[in-house]
Amino acid sequence: MKKKQNSLIVASAVAFPLFFSSLSANAVNLDALRQLGEQVFWDKISNPPRMACVTCHDPRAGWTGPHSQTNLTQVAITGANPHTIGNRKPPASAYASFIPPFQEGVVGPPSGVLGGAFWDGRAKGNIPTGNTTDPNKIGDEVFAGTADPAGLKTAYGQYRGPTAVQALGPFVNPVEQNKADRAGVCRHVQKAQYAPLFEQAWTIPITCDDTHVDVNYKRIAVAIAAFQDSGKVVSFSSRRDQALANDADKKFPLDGLTEQENLGHDLFYTVKIGGNIISGPAPNGKGANCVVCHNSGNSPFGPNPSDGAEPTQLYTDFSYHNIGTPPNPAIGQFNPTNPDDGLSDTTNDPAHRGFWKTPTLRGVDTRPNPSFVKAYAHNGFFKSLKGIVNFYNTSATVCPPELGVDTEEKALANKCWPAAEHPENTARGGPILGNLGLTSEEEDAIVAYMKTFSDTEIPTKPKPFTPARNR
Ligand code: HEC
Ligand code: HEC
Repeated sequence: MKKKQNSLIVASAVAFPLFFSSLSANAVNLDALRQLGEQVFWDKISNPPRMACVTCHDPRAGWTGPHSQTNLTQVAITGANPHTIGNRKPPASAYASFIPPFQEGVVGPPSGVLGGAFWDGRAKGNIPTGNTTDPNKIGDEVFAGTADPAGLKTAYGQYRGPTAVQALGPFVNPVEQNKADRAGVCRHVQKAQYAPLFEQAWTIPITCDDTHVDVNYKRIAVAIAAFQDSGKVVSFSSRRDQALANDADKKFPLDGLTEQENLGHDLFYTVKIGGNIISGPAPNGKGANCVVCHNSGNSPFGPNPSDGAEPTQLYTDFSYHNIGTPPNPAIGQFNPTNPDDGLSDTTNDPAHRGFWKTPTLRGVDTRPNPSFVKAYAHNGFFKSLKGIVNFYNTSATVCPPELGVDTEEKALANKCWPAAEHPENTARGGPILGNLGLTSEEEDAIVAYMKTFSDTEIPTKPKPFTPARNR
């Protein structure tokens, strides 16, 4: 009897610390954090209430603009206030969670710049140490005052980078969701049916008074970033991913792709500079150099060049280049005398004019139906994958201005391309791009290969939150 009691005492002494650690494990609820971000992503938090993140980043269109006619014409999407419009194409928001924080001087030329969200990297997303009162940075203040600051920081801390800082912008941007202030966004979430998710994720209810509004607004942004890093958004479920996973030797050519798609891969991954094959399989002695920039694997110039068989290849180097995209006079707010400058707006370095972040090519062909037109590059000048590949192949040939070529359609018909919007420092017409000597069939093969990058899992609007379902 006595012995038994002793062992009971020993058992509860051991159980106590376990009990406490399971308490803190309960405080962390990554699933609730992601669900909160998902609900907010689809919720029309705008003034007037007609615009959500998904309005400009629709999974059915590869997480970009969902209106074919808009992509064909003004490219930028009219704001919640119908008298406003931006001047850039929404990039795909999927796979943005992999973008590293903005850093200068860490990668090779021409820009030396890596990371940051937006076409020009201005949502830098470097995570400060400790707390910060900077409204555009997210430090430890988001964990302070919760039931388990250390546990939450370990579990959620990584979601404070570029995509979270990016998410601070659209709600209160007058040309986007147009809310008057952060308090209005906070109150919307506070009143929403899904508000309990906030408390489940952060252990405390959302409050929007002057002293708490900033920190709770940041917590919403962290939730959006966590959603954007979830399997719903980064599913790696494209035909290319499936063919790679099912391939016997996990090397290209893949058994699950067609001959044409495998040819496209081989051209994409061959580096040919000044007539010399530097790396890659070089089919027909050709190389399209795409891997120089659309590559998150190894450096193509290294001893072990990327062969495109990395399971999580993201098709971007997260760096900045000037490929010589022509101006698009049809885009909202176009101003021929004051062109959009790109990276130089963020670095204040005039040598960076016309540099844009290499976009991921995941989902680049995802569209709701075959006749749906997508817009490509920061200003949507390009309207087809065939068109942009022909640009890489032939754009060293510049149209005489008197031809009046100002669209992709006219460029293809006239077999020449309008001058770059920023001809200074462009790679166009140099050894890497603009004169690849590809045949039309080889262009088609690269297009066919990019079409295999479309995820087969396309998420739909989440069901309304009900406490019962989420218990
Ligand atoms: C009115 C359309 C519109 C709305 C609404 C909108 N976006 Fe965007 N989004 C854009 C545009 C345009 C850009 C590029 C802007 C730039 O580069 O200056 C962008 C950029 C982004 C990026 C950066 C991707 C990259 O590769 O750098 C992410 C991520 C993103 N948006 C997510 C969101 C989220 C989350 C919301 C809701 C809080 C949202 N967007 C609301 C149009 C929109
Ligand atoms: C020197 C670097 C570089 C090379 C080489 C390169 N790209 Fe790009 N690519 C970029 C940059 C930067 C952009 C964005 C340009 C802009 O916004 O004006 C881009 C844009 C694109 C887009 C538009 C994506 C979107 O969502 O808007 C596609 C498609 C594309 N590239 C495919 C290719 C293919 C295929 C090749 C090889 C034939 C290639 N690229 C070679 C850097 C490069």
